[in-house]
Amino acid sequence: MTAKKTFEQAMVGGIAVKNRIVRSATFEGTAVKGKIGSAILDMHRNLAKGEVGSIITGYFCVSTTDNPAKGTVVITDDSSIPGLTELAQTVHEHGTKLIAQLNHAGAQLFAQPRGPVYGPSDVVDPISGIKPSPFTESQIRELVTEFGDAAVRIQKAGLDGVQIHAAHGYLLSQFLSPAINRRTDSYGGNPENNSRIILEILNEIKTRCGKDYPVWIKLNCSDFHPADKGLTPEDFLVIAKNLAQHGMDAIEVSGGTLSGKYLPSRSKKHSAYHLEYAKQLAGEVEVSVILVGGLRSIDAIDRILSETPVAAISMSRSLIREPGLVKRWMEGDRKDAACIACNGCFNPNGTKCFFTLGEEEKAVQKEIMKFMGSLGKQ
Ligand SMILES: Cc1cc2nc3c(=O)[nH]c(=O)nc-3n(C[C@H](O)[C@H](O)[C@H](O)COP(=O)(O)O)c2cc1C
Ligand code: SF4
Repeated sequence: MTAKKTFEQAMVGGIAVKNRIVRSATFEGTAVKGKIGSAILDMHRNLAKGEVGSIITGYFCVSTTDNPAKGTVVITDDSSIPGLTELAQTVHEHGTKLIAQLNHAGAQLFAQPRGPVYGPSDVVDPISGIKPSPFTESQIRELVTEFGDAAVRIQKAGLDGVQIHAAHGYLLSQFLSPAINRRTDSYGGNPENNSRIILEILNEIKTRCGKDYPVWIKLNCSDFHPADKGLTPEDFLVIAKNLAQHGMDAIEVSGGTLSGKYLPSRSKKHSAYHLEYAKQLAGEVEVSVILVGGLRSIDAIDRILSETPVAAISMSRSLIREPGLVKRWMEGDRKDAACIACNGCFNPNGTKCFFTLGEEEKAVQKEIMKFMGSLGKQ
């Protein structure tokens, strides 16, 4: 293995990037009637000006069977293309690449659903308490087509690739979880069947956008299910290796769900907390593996990139607090990220660092932080 440097040009997941730092998908919560507006443009401009190599957008809603929360970007028809085009141009102006995250929330909802709620099986969601209707096989085929339609729009708008969100307890992550996926048809019952829908989405996107259009995925290395009944590290390896063999261009390794022993966004006492899993996968596949979760120190990032086969690292919260963090590090101020991993940025009125809020907003936000703190082991 040749040593890699953090701030070098590289190919990551089929995309030529100016450095190996990725902004991990971060829900913006500020779309206006489902469309990209000035708040989302400003957020991404600041990150691109801050020298982030590539940005994965917050999750975009791709299906009419989904129940998007307020402020979600919805790309279920072509009226989304002008906003996406403006976003791509804004980011590209600064030499940063842009990847759209495609998602379906399934039953993991934080607000009242507007329509029917679907999942792999009729298992009650531990967060929303909703019992979804299982997708029929013909609805699965329609959903696969919707993912393909969304990817075509993203490509038309000039973005550099897409990322399929299959982590953190949303729909595709639910398909991968034996605790939730109880199907007895070809979409359930073992890791190969549980991941079939993802393989079909991958094939659909590659067929419609061309085999060279980059498709990334975010996967849990483990659901860290409270009774160890969710996706396990063993299943993760089998599934990730199969996806790599079938043309997935990059695998971002995350972990946990909102009802798991650990949240995907853990407290400050954890750092680089999915490293062992990412390292193992990267040693066994040819495609780019990206590590996310608790990366706050440039010295640690340099070490991971130079001493392991991991191709890139990604960060969310460190870049919410400091969109200019990468530039600061590149200019020689190598102090750790200022983010204290308090999760005060999960804000129903749009993602913002807690420390930028006024006193009244802080009081409301403290209640949400208490709730977040009551989830998982932190
Ligand atoms: C406010 C907020 C919104 C997030 N939204 C998303 C999202 O839309 N899609 C996703 O895959 N992960 C999302 N995440 C999770 C992050 O991408 C990341 O996996 C997690 O926070 C761990 O990385 P970090 O320690 O660098 O924050 C979000 C995290 C935060 C804090
Ligand atoms: S609210 Fe807390 S976790 Fe979020 S960016 Fe600010 S310091 Fe980091």
